[in-house]
Amino acid sequence: MIKKVGVAILGLGVVGGGTYKTLVEHREYYKKTQGVDVSVESVLVRTKQKALDLGVDPAIIANSIAEVIANPAVDIVIETIGGCEAAKEYILAALKEGKSVVTANKELICKHWHELERTAKRNGCGLYFEASCVGGVPIIRTLLDGVQSNYVQEMLGIINGTTNYILTRMSKDGASYETVLKDAQSLGYAEADPTNDVEGFDAVYKLSILSSLAFHQKISYEHIFREGISKIDTKDIEFGKDMGYTLKLLAIAKNSEKGVELRVHPTFIRNSHPLTGVNDAFNAVYLKGDAVDNIMLYGRGAGSLPTASAVVSDVLYAATHSEIKYATFNNSVEGAEKVKYVSDFQSVYYVRLSVEDEVGSLARICGIFANNGVSIVEVGQKGHYLGDGEKPRVPVYLITNKTFESKINSAVKAINESNVATVEALIRIEE
Ligand code: NAP
Ligand code: HSE
Repeated sequence: MIKKVGVAILGLGVVGGGTYKTLVEHREYYKKTQGVDVSVESVLVRTKQKALDLGVDPAIIANSIAEVIANPAVDIVIETIGGCEAAKEYILAALKEGKSVVTANKELICKHWHELERTAKRNGCGLYFEASCVGGVPIIRTLLDGVQSNYVQEMLGIINGTTNYILTRMSKDGASYETVLKDAQSLGYAEADPTNDVEGFDAVYKLSILSSLAFHQKISYEHIFREGISKIDTKDIEFGKDMGYTLKLLAIAKNSEKGVELRVHPTFIRNSHPLTGVNDAFNAVYLKGDAVDNIMLYGRGAGSLPTASAVVSDVLYAATHSEIKYATFNNSVEGAEKVKYVSDFQSVYYVRLSVEDEVGSLARICGIFANNGVSIVEVGQKGHYLGDGEKPRVPVYLITNKTFESKINSAVKAINESNVATVEALIRIEE
């Protein structure tokens, strides 16, 4: 006996459009493989033409969220609008009406998960958000089910497609940051406001969700250290290549007796690490569990159909599972007890300086690092004079030993206050 399930799609943009196409084109397939007949019963759009261009029957285009919610044929509401205003209002309205919700909205889940989940619980319905993190890669389901037997100790992720696409093109083609960002937008990878992608906010939202699920405690995004890629210079990508490193915007989550350490920043990783093979808009999460050891999930982290794959899989899951799972932890804003966050983390650092070309300059720089408790393992000079003024300068790079963030910051400050050199770039290295 085929089970009938009606869905509504709110927003028919990149993800909503892909979701509509997937549901329509695979309808017969899902009847055969899942025993469910999923029909699109309603859509809510801001620009009607978008729905008509997709071939949506004008009769199912709703005029308001109230009309969608009141439609008895709609069992599941799919939210692919984005943002935290209308999306939140619409999702709460659907949940209050006892309709399960599937969303691709990482910002909303990150910031309002507790409130949405509370409403879902009270009304006995499900809240599914596989598409919110890492596009088509089933990382949420893996964390909810696949690795529940483990204490997850560490996750390293390339979890933003736009920045990975930009860094890959800058590295492979030597293309400029601005050119490649425009390409990422036209390919539908970047968010409406690309600041969210390039400055690391998108990855922070995702890391907050993923680490909460992995470490069974509510990780507030406000505690995640963040640095974006907008200031990356191709020079540093080239220097890194010469030293055997690839530059990625890495999301890092570690859980130990010291606490949880969470950060998103451009990171050099050794070319032998599996994550260096993750290029373009592909994403991956490299996860270490105490029993399973290392596993890596890899796939398309953004784009219309890959993200629709995750949305529709959630719809099918909701349609075929009567038991609903909620967070394993106290899902309030901060969690039951305040989580212990490690803010002064340790790392190896790559530092590029513009140094006065004078006798003793390097000795002075090394002295400043030493005075701040930072040990240097490698120093090199790359290229030629940076200018031909009265005091020529040369580009010098150095690699530190593992040190605390607070120590490197005080060393950088002292160097910038000296008259011997200026720090042009500081990039963390994950060894
Ligand atoms: P998008 O292309 O901008 O689509 C959003 C759509 O929602 C637009 O068509 C917009 O209408 C419509 N919309 C906005 N407000 C509305 C409202 N009040 N009522 C009805 N429709 C409304 O964005 P997207 O890339 O699909 O992203 C949607 C969500 O998926 C976001 O939460 C995003 O973070 C998430 N996501 C995106 C990707 C990706 O690869 N793009 C991957 C994973 C998750 P107009 O056409 O009139 O502007
Ligand atoms: N803008 C996001 C990215 C979409 O580039 O990864 C996927 O969440």
